[in-house]
Amino acid sequence: KEDVFTYDPGFTSTCSCESAITYIDGDAGVLLYRGYPVDQLAEHSSFIEVAYLILYGELPSPSALEEFEASISRHTMINEGVKRFFDGFYYDAHPMSMLTGVVGALSAFYHDTSNSKDAKQRDIFAHRMIAKIPTIAAAAYKKYFGQPFMYPQNNLDYCSNLLHMMFSVPAEPYEVDPIAAKALDVLFILHADHEQNASTSTVRMAGSTGTNPYAAISSGIAALWGPAHGGANEAVLKMLEEIGTPDKAPEFLQKVKDKVEGVRLMGFGHRVYKNFDPRATIIREHCHRVLKHLGKENDPQLELAMKLEEVALSDDYFKERKLYPNVDFYSGIIYKALGIPVNMFTPMFAIARTVGWVAHWSEMVSEPLKIARPRQVYMGADKRDYVTVDKR
Ligand code: SDX
Repeated sequence: KEDVFTYDPGFTSTCSCESAITYIDGDAGVLLYRGYPVDQLAEHSSFIEVAYLILYGELPSPSALEEFEASISRHTMINEGVKRFFDGFYYDAHPMSMLTGVVGALSAFYHDTSNSKDAKQRDIFAHRMIAKIPTIAAAAYKKYFGQPFMYPQNNLDYCSNLLHMMFSVPAEPYEVDPIAAKALDVLFILHADHEQNASTSTVRMAGSTGTNPYAAISSGIAALWGPAHGGANEAVLKMLEEIGTPDKAPEFLQKVKDKVEGVRLMGFGHRVYKNFDPRATIIREHCHRVLKHLGKENDPQLELAMKLEEVALSDDYFKERKLYPNVDFYSGIIYKALGIPVNMFTPMFAIARTVGWVAHWSEMVSEPLKIARPRQVYMGADKRDYVTVDKR
């Protein structure tokens, strides 16, 4: 409970916070959601059950899970007026720009969640946000490809519904591949929450002012978009495309070591995990399984990613800096194999992380609200007197 950092005895920051949602041990590579190891949840649970766990702190009974799923299903459609926001975007607008704008605009539609002291209103917001984010992301995908929006089908599970809304077209039947839906489900479990990462801290910071919760989530989406954070999965695929073939891996890694401007090993490194990211270990195995099922086990980019990992992990430069694959290194290869375009990778991350964002917002506002106010170390000029322009 001590402050996150202290510059001197008299100066402590106030940007640490207490939370009971997720625990990370960066050195041991441990990640627990409400005490449950993420690898056990990825193997035995479902994203919607993990969403319940992260929101409410306990695994649901069968009836509670059924009720939760039904509530999420009831909120999957978006107001017809919200759909018109998409008309204003240029066709080539990045889907994350559309998510940021449209989710923020939800605060103009919903006022029944403004009293955050009311647990029922917090629940309505959480269920509505978790339910609508896939519909909004799928709409952004359809806008980009100039296809008609597809309404959610509430007889489908969460991930199957997302694939349906993205890939169905009115002209022909579309059958969701259950393996593809399960592949997404596992990825979403692994991306659901991650303690005080930049986007979650942004949601808490914005939410601490008492702003509309949809506006707070929109600020989290904006933070996640950056290539140092959730945008890394998109940046990994662009990096693999630029490198080309496995024989070029050593040359690329040399540029990284020479710190060539703008050249980073995307998908590697983490501010907290300094040995390995437990999610990356699970995703690597998941990647091999999914690509094998899809008959793409010889995907050249998977081969290149494995070569990069092999060479980097045996190189002192990366070992000394404790740079290992993170959650974003292999996830993009799976998304691509599922037919999801690169510019939709970070929206996939946003869909999953919405669970963490709403849980952290709800946890924070259920306590007496205290506005976040990080402090700084002032590095500027000493106090000095004004000089009139004729004397400068
Ligand atoms: C996510 O916070 C979260 O939990 C985030 C996340 C979540 O679930 O919410 O886990 C999701 O955002 C994962 C991270 C995705 N980002 C990337 O993959 C982008 C590439 N990674 C880096 O930009 C970087 O590793 C960070 C931002 C992730 C972490 O940076 P750190 O820990 O602050 O490391 P640093 O910038 O202080 O660098 C330390 C050294 C430096 O070298 P020196 O100056 O000491 O010589 O390591 C080097 C850096 O140059 N370094 C890298 C590198 N990451 C750090 N060198 C090459 N490639 C990299 N990726």
